Amino acid sequence: MSKFIIKGGKKLSGEVNISSAKNSVLPILAATILSGGKCVIKNSPMLEDVFVLCDVLKTLLAKVNIDKINNIVEVDTSNLSDLNVSDDLVRKMRASFLVMGAMLARFGRFKISLPGGCNIGSRPIDLHLKGLAALGAKIKVGHGYVEAYADKLTGADIYLDFPSVGATENIMMAATLAKGVTIIENAAKEPEIIDLAIFLRKLGGNIQGEGTDTITITGVEKLEGVEYEPIFDRIEAGTFMIAAAITNSAITLRGVNEKYLKPVIAKLREMGVKIDINNDSMFVDGRNKLNPTDIITMPYPGFPTDMQSQMMSLLAKVNGTSIITETIFENRFMQVGELTRMGGNIKIDGRSAIIEGVQDFTGAEVKATDLRAGAALILAGLCAKGETVINDVYHIDRGYVSIEKKLKALGADMERV
Ligand code: UD1
Repeated sequence: MSKFIIKGGKKLSGEVNISSAKNSVLPILAATILSGGKCVIKNSPMLEDVFVLCDVLKTLLAKVNIDKINNIVEVDTSNLSDLNVSDDLVRKMRASFLVMGAMLARFGRFKISLPGGCNIGSRPIDLHLKGLAALGAKIKVGHGYVEAYADKLTGADIYLDFPSVGATENIMMAATLAKGVTIIENAAKEPEIIDLAIFLRKLGGNIQGEGTDTITITGVEKLEGVEYEPIFDRIEAGTFMIAAAITNSAITLRGVNEKYLKPVIAKLREMGVKIDINNDSMFVDGRNKLNPTDIITMPYPGFPTDMQSQMMSLLAKVNGTSIITETIFENRFMQVGELTRMGGNIKIDGRSAIIEGVQDFTGAEVKATDLRAGAALILAGLCAKGETVINDVYHIDRGYVSIEKKLKALGADMERV
């Protein structure tokens, strides 16, 4: 199994191209099921999670071609079948469950194993199921499986108790081929929801209001295959912004959109990081002395939970006391133990972490416990004294394209062994 070895203390400089968003590509791949034709996803990130969703589609007899050199994924769902998706795939990645809404809309029945995924909390699917039930699906849960049936899905008014990203996406997909109008209230507003809506419209769907609390979907009879290029990965971008800040360096990010990075930009600026934006590029200068701050994770446009672990590494090195409160997932401080091994001074009190900045991290052998916790360890390793060895990097490979190559090109001393 691969590990990363990082010799800390190198300054970063130069430019990095930000890849397309994993969390956009996954629902878009699921939505290709609705098209019943051939879709070409350009500039797709070549990531483990993308390959797992492609395997799910192949299980359903979609024709999938992955061109790793040109970053293109072609999916032809014209001859799909409603076969069951194996436990293994759904356990590997929770987002496999995103095919549920689309499969139900297309075949009127579907059975899938209950989802697994990053071990960052209980992550129920009640909101997905309530939404599909409101559209007329009869749902049975038992023996580790969810089964849903519907002669024809029918539009409905759905109020989500919480603006769940996955539930909003599953309902949007199911409603696109339902009869009549669906209104999702308290919908998630994440940029990846906007991207999915744009993709569904391109397929021929009728969707309005994405990016606001209320999304309206008027069902259509038929969709068709298209070409599409998903938006940039705001979490990868945020991770590189922190890489600059934590190493007291200045780097340029290419291929980003300031609009979707506002919560991260605002916090980093408040801490003293200088950020200059020029169209789709961003110069991030962390060479100033930085100040501590407090962070509360919230649904978009609040501070993203997916940036919480990386921010913790930065705050752990900033003189003074900072507090991070995690409101989205109940078990998302798994990086704390590993950062403590590296000399961090962090205490957990319920849903909050109290961080006393230390002068330096010290290199140690640590383990990536989930995707973003793994990214946090890389960031700590980049500025640590001595050598850091990160085990279980498969978690990191789920969501970051060649992170060691991108960081090496910026000047980091980092190897995959
Ligand atoms: C997506 C992202 C993930 C990100 C998260 C929050 C993808 C593939 N993953 O995950 O990277 O961290 O959004 O921004 O896009 N919940 C329920 N019932 C449900 C569904 C969710 O209680 O039916 C709860 C979850 O347990 C969690 C919260 O809602 O506490 C947020 O989950 P959700 O927004 O659904 O996240 P995901 O779609 O799983």
